[in-house]
Amino acid sequence: MARILITSALPYINGIKHLGNLVGSQLPADLYARYMRARGHEVMFICATDEHGTPAELAAAKAGQPVADYCARLHAEQAELAQGFRLSFDHYGRSSSARNHALTQHLAARLGAAGLISEVTEKQVFSIGDNRFLPDRYIEGTCPNCGYERARGDQCENCTKQLDPTDLINPRSAISGSTDLEVRETKHLFLRQSTLRDTLDQWIDSQTGWPVLTTSIARKWLHDGDGLQDRGITRDLDWGVPAQFDGAPWQGMEGKVFYVWFDAPIEYIAATAEWADAQGLGDDAWQRWWRTDKGADDVRYVQFMGKDNVPFHTLSFPATLIGSGEPWKLVDYIKSFNYLNYDGGQFSTSQGRGVFMDQALSLLPADYWRWWLLSHAPENSDSEFTWENFQASVNKDLADVLGNLVSRVTKFCRSKFGEVVPEGGTAGAREAALMQALETRLRAYERHMEAMEIRKAAGELRALWVLGNEYLQEAAPWSVFKTDPEQAALQIRLALNLIRFYAVISQPFIPDAAERMMQAMGCNDWSWPERLETALDRLPTGHPFTVPEVLFAKISDDARADWAERFAGQRA
Ligand code: 2FM
Ligand code: ZN
Repeated sequence: MARILITSALPYINGIKHLGNLVGSQLPADLYARYMRARGHEVMFICATDEHGTPAELAAAKAGQPVADYCARLHAEQAELAQGFRLSFDHYGRSSSARNHALTQHLAARLGAAGLISEVTEKQVFSIGDNRFLPDRYIEGTCPNCGYERARGDQCENCTKQLDPTDLINPRSAISGSTDLEVRETKHLFLRQSTLRDTLDQWIDSQTGWPVLTTSIARKWLHDGDGLQDRGITRDLDWGVPAQFDGAPWQGMEGKVFYVWFDAPIEYIAATAEWADAQGLGDDAWQRWWRTDKGADDVRYVQFMGKDNVPFHTLSFPATLIGSGEPWKLVDYIKSFNYLNYDGGQFSTSQGRGVFMDQALSLLPADYWRWWLLSHAPENSDSEFTWENFQASVNKDLADVLGNLVSRVTKFCRSKFGEVVPEGGTAGAREAALMQALETRLRAYERHMEAMEIRKAAGELRALWVLGNEYLQEAAPWSVFKTDPEQAALQIRLALNLIRFYAVISQPFIPDAAERMMQAMGCNDWSWPERLETALDRLPTGHPFTVPEVLFAKISDDARADWAERFAGQRA
């Protein structure tokens, strides 16, 4: 039994996430966590809301709420949706927690003591009207590249050009619209991560098993252009972790907070501490996951994230942990994702384009979405959600293949033998061939799940369901029953056992359906099928079962067309 620490990139607090966000980190992380638990490993699965920074402040202002209240409300909403999608976090924390404040300030103190923090005086835009410095996103103006009038100080959303606030034509405050702006000097703390370049370089080189997408992004940032830049880790904002060191003020930093990307990954650790607190456990309980001097050497730590998050996780966060000089556990494997597009364009939070988590659950149960998203995860390239594809995949894989098998077998058995596993018959060549084929596919499924090859794993799972269907098709117990009821009983007994077997192996993908299949089989044995013969002999003759309600309803053409139209524009 291994110990596996799994973190999903922390969703920003500023609104409900769309399906592209979901499939880019939380959902695949959940798949992996569920699978590893099913294999008997000890898993710690952590996520949290990422609550600081300008996006949170702006969203709160737009909602007309104090930022702390806004964050508390959105955290509760996101937690409920996570539960709705059956994301099985051991803890869903908040980066604004007291634990994260303390740990962030502690790590800053360690970095300061190691000489890795310097003070830099910068020029920044100050809004006289708002009486505050305006971070990049708080400044709007006309894009010098494309003329878009609502470009932000960090980037033009229209042409994607990266900008400096001073590039903007007719700049104005995004808070008040004031154009009474001037450039003033302000002092910030910088993490001297350039001095850790060789250490990070060696560390990345030693990570032989990392996926190409991850290492190539890390190497690019490490070597391209000017290489690894020192990074500002404070901001002129009210909301955030105060820029103090182990709780003590740092002269000149009064009224400033740490940059959101400095404290957010630290929340992975802090959220584990929040978990321990919530369980009434002491510090040892979380430290055995995170401190190599407290046993975390045995832990395998896997992170899930979208590709845009990779630089922060391969360079900045490790720089924080290594630079502290303390024995923190570093990531062992980073699984990163490309983007999911929506019906010929991009999902967009700011434009409300696509399907958002709350909307998805209002249309269909979580399993439908989980299956489509995971079996189409943007692993090796971007992928695209279309309603046609979603409909086809649900109707074929879930309704025709899996759902149909469950319904046919249980109903046939009920009508001919009653609601108990029937007795009689002898297994022959057809059953042996099925076993053989299942064995091969199951082990391939396991290998893909271990390797986090999600689409391939989904493909094997689907193939495993198909094997059961093909067996029934060929064995045709409904015809055999007329001449040889004992033989039909054997076939149906095997098929009922297959349903329980499918529940166990499908649970990481479609947990609710799996639960219902297991319940219908009157069983609660979720142990992994290490030996197929035993697993398919688990329900003995005479064992009672029930016929479940329809597992998966088909999506009609009308519903598909209706949804496609409803979700074509912007979210209201
Ligand atoms: O890109 C994002 O959605 C960030 N909120 C991810 C943060 S991951 C971690 F470092 F906290
Ligand atoms: Zn532009």
